[in-house]
Amino acid sequence: MYSENIHAPGSASPATTDDADMRYQIRDAKVEDAPALADTVIEPIVTTFRGHVPDQCLSWITKDESIANWQRWFGQDREDGEFLLVAELLEGGVVGCALGGPQTADSRFAGELYLLGVLSTYQRQGIGRNLVAAVAARLVQQGIQSIQVRVLTINPNRNFYERLGGTYIYEEPYDWNGVLLAEAIYGWTDIKCLLTD
Ligand SMILES: CC(C)(COP(=O)(O)OP(=O)(O)OC[C@H]1O[C@@H](n2cnc3c(N)ncnc32)[C@H](O)[C@@H]1OP(=O)(O)O)[C@@H](O)C(=O)NCCC(=O)NCCS
Repeated sequence: MYSENIHAPGSASPATTDDADMRYQIRDAKVEDAPALADTVIEPIVTTFRGHVPDQCLSWITKDESIANWQRWFGQDREDGEFLLVAELLEGGVVGCALGGPQTADSRFAGELYLLGVLSTYQRQGIGRNLVAAVAARLVQQGIQSIQVRVLTINPNRNFYERLGGTYIYEEPYDWNGVLLAEAIYGWTDIKCLLTD
């Protein structure tokens, strides 16, 4: 599940994807992307959950607060090994983002996908899968072989992770702006299955 507790990118060579009618690259995010990052986090979440959770959940953060969080992240507020990738149309415009890095809370998985979002009008075109593949590739570069992700049990997109071969591991309570929900943890013991050619 998305969290704005943003805690470090390494150096990614941009990957370019040439789909039938949409060309985009996946690259390391830059501080100048902060406003677009706020959009790629907030819009997909609000669009997904509106009508499914109390409105107080959907006002968990403002765009200005999110921009400030991202700017802090580029400054110093990030963990060792953490990295932030964006999907950017070649014609311009960031349409997705993914935050990944090592994790130590659960010894079964060495890496975590902390955040993934694709603007709603660009979903179901393979961007999410390619962002996850780019995160997996970066983690492999770091010597990490396994990965987990947290997703709210009520998130209709949790099937995305099942489609990508994730295994349901367990659930934990999750407090979303004062509303108690549950999040499911999905894991991949061999991260290589997430890599694309
Ligand atoms: C989840 C999310 C990142 C998926 O991104 P996307 O670009 O739409 O996903 P892709 O197009 O790469 O889909 C990859 C595969 O998963 C499937 N898939 C995608 N979303 C799905 C869903 N909600 N339910 C079932 N399958 C789904 C696709 O059909 C595709 O399958 P295929 O390989 O058989 O064609 C996007 O829906 C999103 O940003 N949602 C809002 C935020 C969110 O829920 N983030 C994840 C929780 S932390």
